[in-house]
Amino acid sequence: MDTSLPSGAGRVPTADAGGRTMPLLGFGTHPLRGDQATEAVLTAFSVGYRLVDTATRYRNEAAVGTALATTSLPRSELFVTTKMPPDQVGRERLTLEESLAALGCDYLDLWLIHWPPGGYPGVTSWREFIRARDEGLVRAIGVSNYPVELIDALHEATGEYPAVNQVRWGPGNHDPEFAEAMRRRDVLLSAHSPLRGTDLDHPVLADVARRHGRSARDVVLAWNLHHKVAVTVKSAHRDRMERNLSAVDITLTPEDIGAINGLSGVAPA
Ligand SMILES: NC(=O)c1ccc[n+]([C@@H]2O[C@H](COP(=O)([O-])OP(=O)(O)OC[C@H]3O[C@@H](n4cnc5c(N)ncnc54)[C@H](OP(=O)(O)O)[C@@H]3O)[C@@H](O)[C@H]2O)c1
Repeated sequence: MDTSLPSGAGRVPTADAGGRTMPLLGFGTHPLRGDQATEAVLTAFSVGYRLVDTATRYRNEAAVGTALATTSLPRSELFVTTKMPPDQVGRERLTLEESLAALGCDYLDLWLIHWPPGGYPGVTSWREFIRARDEGLVRAIGVSNYPVELIDALHEATGEYPAVNQVRWGPGNHDPEFAEAMRRRDVLLSAHSPLRGTDLDHPVLADVARRHGRSARDVVLAWNLHHKVAVTVKSAHRDRMERNLSAVDITLTPEDIGAINGLSGVAPA
């Protein structure tokens, strides 16, 4: 490992996402735009992140693309996720082409339906996603903010489950039954807003953090990693990016995990 890199770099655990190896700790880009987004992504790469998460809706794909064109890291070492907003139903291929052009990529690692179109499963879009994947434009396909029943509807219509479901997920708003439902379907659970969606002052988190000599934020990220949840975290600051990445170094005890699982208000699985 390059010892000039901060703690955590090069040691981010991975999981299988539809046949593609996906880092379990990735860099989120919302709401960064323009030069700030480019700089942030380049900084994230330099401290050790390899997954960058964007979306058509974030209007920063071109800025992320500038970072991808600037970095000396080969494309094959990077994992690029973007998302199609549901208002693009019916123009899936055009949206994909626009994302690829803005990002300067000839393929995506992961393409997600950003949320269920009109509350429906979006079967016609899902068929287009499958076609794009089969044509090699996308390595893995998935969804975001989908409940179990809509995921099942996609499977019933096409025989294919999403590789990933990215949802708002953290100690205070996780649902073990949902996690188990994803696991049984071989859908990799991915957490967005892990810090923003968490009461970082909660005494349980504060207690675990104190015992590990870390912050509650670090503990939230480590808790996701313990559960093999692919966590996407954003910061515009190098020191915070490094700090967040170093959560891979934390090994939570079974007692820590039990206590944090209990914050959902649902008995842990
Ligand atoms: N699929 C979806 O519907 C969806 C929805 C929301 C988000 N996402 C994705 O998930 C990513 C992460 O979610 P998020 O941005 O909502 O929330 P988040 O990553 O949980 O939290 C980001 C906030 O926490 C701050 N922060 C980060 N690390 C910190 C640290 N070590 N110390 C202090 N403050 C810190 C950031 O501020 P600074 O930048 O000032 O450090 C920012 O205000 C997004 O960027 C996006 O890529 C997806």
